[in-house]
This record gives sequence, structure tokens and C-alpha cells, in this order.
Amino acid sequence: MSSPTQHKIHVGVLGATGTVGQRFIQLLDNHPYFHLAALGASESSAGKSYKDAVRRRWKMTTPIPADVAALPVTLCAPEHFASCRVIFSGLDSSVAGDVERAFFTAGFAVFSNARNYRMDPDVPLIVPTVNPDHFDIIPHQRSARSLGRGFIVTNANCSTTGLVVPLKALQDAFGPIDSMFVHTLQAISGAGYPGIASLDICDNVVPYISGEEDKLEIEPCKILGSLSPAKSDHVFTTTRISATCNRVNVVDGHLENVSLSFVNRPPPSLDAIARALSAYTCEATQLGVPSAPLHPIEVTDEEDRPQPRLDRERGKGMTVTVGRIRKDPVLDVRFSLLSHNTILGAAGSSLMNAEIAFKKGLLA
Ligand SMILES: NC(=O)c1ccc[n+]([C@@H]2O[C@H](COP(=O)([O-])OP(=O)(O)OC[C@H]3O[C@@H](n4cnc5c(N)ncnc54)[C@H](OP(=O)(O)O)[C@@H]3O)[C@@H](O)[C@H]2O)c1
Repeated sequence: MSSPTQHKIHVGVLGATGTVGQRFIQLLDNHPYFHLAALGASESSAGKSYKDAVRRRWKMTTPIPADVAALPVTLCAPEHFASCRVIFSGLDSSVAGDVERAFFTAGFAVFSNARNYRMDPDVPLIVPTVNPDHFDIIPHQRSARSLGRGFIVTNANCSTTGLVVPLKALQDAFGPIDSMFVHTLQAISGAGYPGIASLDICDNVVPYISGEEDKLEIEPCKILGSLSPAKSDHVFTTTRISATCNRVNVVDGHLENVSLSFVNRPPPSLDAIARALSAYTCEATQLGVPSAPLHPIEVTDEEDRPQPRLDRERGKGMTVTVGRIRKDPVLDVRFSLLSHNTILGAAGSSLMNAEIAFKKGLLA
């Protein structure tokens, strides 16, 4: 009798030893659609069993799944992933460009966390609880790049991801957002492993994250925009965004303080805003994919929430928590949001994107 794993789609993880890679391995354990069949990392890990490659570096709070512990780690080359249809990439951006291209041109479906292809006009930048309709650009990408069965889908920077979920709910309910200030307090795990030195972050806040503010000021405009009528390009929103990013002494969970104004006047009431956020539903939930949260957004009225330690696990890390909704004395409204940076903000979004791609028939 055949084992159930033979009926699942075989997947590989690139950058499997890193912070995002480890989260992929945790989230793929016993996945109903996908079977983890191959692992890739750098020369320093290749040739070892996964357990040996992450010795003293495994940072998940659950053990390494037994079948994964024994898997060999290989170099990130397509020939080592021949049994896989899907590739999840948690590669460092310094190598992701060439490596991911080798995979999608070789016919793999690539779901990337790296920044390299995010802004390419034919590459969708998809937050699964926001804009899975952008998968409609894949036929154009395949023909423009002569890819056959291959394609690449990216997910957003971790702080962008948490931000765009409530923005989407507000845009759907009240029309376009004119301008916005966002001030982030980002967790240490967002910098990967080993990341920022303990002597730099203990008892401290670092008001600089390289490249982060630029990403936060442009990625939402692609994600919250639409595809062109021919589904061959992206039409960006014209929201003006001013971002300030800080690294804080928290392990997981990005907190963001947002002030914004709408194009339409008069602006909605605070009650209407809270209702729109709570009522928001998304295609991923309607499709019933395994990683979709029941509630993409949860609104809290406790005056000192959301907080990273208390709210990051909501919806198994796939829900964004919004609180402190109040009038802004300069713009229209302000609020705080909290999202899990390595689940919704990274591996979880890639995984949910692949589940949606499966439902849409793109993994055939
Ligand atoms: N951490 C987050 O919250 C987060 C959120 C969203 C997006 N991202 C993005 O996700 C990606 C991974 O981030 P991370 O935080 O997981 O970083 P990380 O902990 O530093 O892990 C990097 C991974 O890349 C591998 N790697 C490095 N150089 C390589 C090479 N030359 N060839 C093959 N593999 C190589 C490493 O393998 P070895 O262990 O063998 O060196 C490791 O598996 C980055 O592009 C990052 O910007 C991260």
C-alpha cells in the first residue's frame, strides 16, 4: 500500500538552516498538501544531515520533525531537487537572485521571501490574506520569460506584510488611502540568525534597519494596487507613505504604529473603522486553504494591546491584531498593529501562497 506522502506534492526548502527556513520546516510538518523532500543551504551546511547542519542553531520551540532531521542538506542547485514541484526560498538576498532564477527557469514553482524579484513588473508580490488575485499575472510571466511550468511568486517584507492587511480592509471599505506615517518596532528574529549582536540590542533600541524604510514606502503600493486590464503589469496605488523603522529587544512579532488619512471626505468614524477591520474576510479563508486564519484581523479594545508576546500567536501566527484605534490630531485615524514576522511575515505567507496556487491549479 502506498504511503500518503506519495500523493502529496513534493517540495524543497532553500535556505533551510536559517530563521525563515526553520519556520518552513516547522510549518510543513504533516502538511495536508505538501511533503518536504529536499533541503538546500550554503557550502558550510551542504553534505550534512539537517540535524547536524542546525546543531545549536535550531530555534523553533518544537523539535525538528524526525523525518526531516535525517534528510541530507545539499547545495541550492535544481538537480538536487528533481523530485520537487514547489520550492520555498528562505535564501539570503545576496544569493537569492541567481539561485531562484535557476529554479524557476528549470520549471519549478518558486515562492520567495527575498527582496530580489519583488518589484519586477511581471512578478506578483502577494500577501495571501490581501491580494491573491495577483496570481492572475502568472500566465503573462510564464510567456514573457519562456518558463513552461515554472514561475516565481514573492511575498513581502515582514513589516509590509503586517501593515497591508488592515490597509486592505480600510481601502475596501472606505476607498483609497491618501497618506500615512508608519513607525515600526521590529523583532530581533527579523534580522535572521545570528542577526544583531546581543551587546547591540540588549537594553537598547536601534533606530535603523538597512533598506527597510524604502521597502515599507513602496511595497504596499504594489500589493494594494491592481493588475493592468491585460494582466501583464501592476498598477500601483498613489498612497504617500513615510516610514521609520526600529529594531527592538523582542524575539518575534513586529509592532507598528500607523497614522493615516483617506482620500474621501468626510473620513469614516472610529466605530465604522473598527467594524470594517473586524468584518474583513479574504479569499484564502473562503478557499479554505489549510493555513488561512479564520480571522485575518482581530481588533482588540484593551487599551494596552496589541503586544508582541501576548498577541503574535493569534490565528497560529497568521492573524494581524489591531488596537488603540483613535482619532489622529493631524491625519484622520491612528492605530497600532502586531503581526508575527516569521509566520505571516515570511514562511507562513509563502506557504499560504503555495496552498492558494494549488487551489488555483497553478501547481499542475
Ligand atoms: N527573518 C525574517 O523575519 C524575514 C522576514 C521576511 C523576509 N525575510 C527574508 O528571508 C530571507 C532569509 O532570511 P533569514 O532571516 O532566514 O536569514 P538567515 O537566518 O541568515 O538564513 C539565511 C539562509 O541562507 C543560506 N545561505 C546563505 N548564503 C548562501 C549561499 N551562498 N548559498 C546557499 N545558501 C546560502 C543560509 O545557509 P547556511 O546556514 O548554510 O549559511 C541560511 O539557510 C532573506 O532574504 C530575508 O530578507 C526574513
